[in-house]
Amino acid sequence: MPYSPVLVGALLPLILIAPAAPAQHAGVGAPAPAQQAAGAGASNGSAIFAQRCSQCHGDRGQGIASAVTIAGPSLQAEHDAGKVMTAVEWGPSHMPAFSRVLSVLQIHSVSGYVTTQLAIIPLTQGDLGEGGKLFRVYCASCHRTAVRGGALAFTGRNAPALTNKSAALIAGAVRWGPGTMPSFPEPVLSDQQLSSVVRYVKFVQHPPDPGGDPLKYYGPVSEGLAAGAVLMILIGFTGWIEKGEKG
Ligand code: HEC
Ligand code: HEC
Repeated sequence: MPYSPVLVGALLPLILIAPAAPAQHAGVGAPAPAQQAAGAGASNGSAIFAQRCSQCHGDRGQGIASAVTIAGPSLQAEHDAGKVMTAVEWGPSHMPAFSRVLSVLQIHSVSGYVTTQLAIIPLTQGDLGEGGKLFRVYCASCHRTAVRGGALAFTGRNAPALTNKSAALIAGAVRWGPGTMPSFPEPVLSDQQLSSVVRYVKFVQHPPDPGGDPLKYYGPVSEGLAAGAVLMILIGFTGWIEKGEKG
């Protein structure tokens, strides 16, 4: 699993402290005391990022990998300010929530800073077929895909599942190469190819429904099994009725 209990344990105090800080004391709750002086109540996106985010995401949002796992992913493909605001407010995974530490205005500024100043990896539509081919060549050795219960799923012992990663996180990780994962810079994968890989991973995360609405993602085989089970019950039931009539 990508996040070890040790790291989560180490970060837990951070998460607990952050919500305890009243909004008007924006300096309280910052992970490192030395950084608190750097502008309590700063409204400048870049200053807020340096103070609140860079220790995990890197000073240019390039991501930081610790020995155990990713401290904070790369944000260099985050183009949607709305999504950044949501992440800052709620704190996905082991990122602390900042909704009580930063004002709405501050969350606005820091999100704008991320999408306009740090997001340097372009993401376009991409091509699904090309993405699948590239994924098999460059990623599948570690992040394998397999058919599970009719749905495509990620498997692999040496790499985390990619099931709930956003497009931005996927693109960021590919360019960056967190931990033991290699990085795939521009000469290896063009921006267009990167977009295709991202599109493929997003596709595999949510494959189109194969049909049979109430039995989502199980497909015709299990639907046949279910029908068979119903048939067996009916046969059993008729047998029981017959017995009842005889007895
Ligand atoms: C304690 C480390 C830590 C701090 C501090 C932190 N983050 Fe995060 N951030 C994370 C982790 C871990 C994730 C989750 C990655 C995942 O879902 O796999 C994350 C996720 C995100 C995401 C969502 C990425 C996506 O596409 O799903 C955004 C955006 C983000 N952080 C921005 C920020 C900003 C802006 C700040 C400062 C206000 C900040 N983070 C502070 C660790 C941190
Ligand atoms: C040599 C094995 C290897 C290859 C090849 C590889 N990865 Fe990874 N990948 C990893 C490992 C290991 C991690 C976890 C790094 C960590 O947690 O420190 C990871 C993490 C990730 C993450 C998660 C980042 C996060 O925010 O948690 C994504 C997304 C990802 N890889 C996508 C890809 C894609 C797409 C490719 C192909 C272009 C690829 N990887 C190729 C080993 C690999």
